[in-house]
Amino acid sequence: MRIKSHPILGDIPKRKLVKIEVDGRTIEAFEGEPIAAALLAAGIKVFRRTVKRREPRGLFCTIGQCTDCMMTVNGMPNVRTCITPVEEGMEISTQIGRGERS
Ligand code: FES
Repeated sequence: MRIKSHPILGDIPKRKLVKIEVDGRTIEAFEGEPIAAALLAAGIKVFRRTVKRREPRGLFCTIGQCTDCMMTVNGMPNVRTCITPVEEGMEISTQIGRGERS
């Protein structure tokens, strides 16, 4: 679900639609929007799992401070998806524990 019109800001301007891959699934996203926003719009709410108990984590602060939204992006672990903009063709995967470079 996405906001198309805001009561104060008005209509959302047109943006370029791109494709990104999340855990092997291709989804559409707007170029430049936070990765986390694209994931939520696609119904994805679990971004990583904790080190010891593998408990799910998702968005919490949404300002780059808590690290709950960290995922592996283009092989780089620990990327805060709430503050990282979408680029065409990104490969994103759910991070388990501390993550590993691929
Ligand atoms: S949600 Fe807290 S750093 Fe992204």
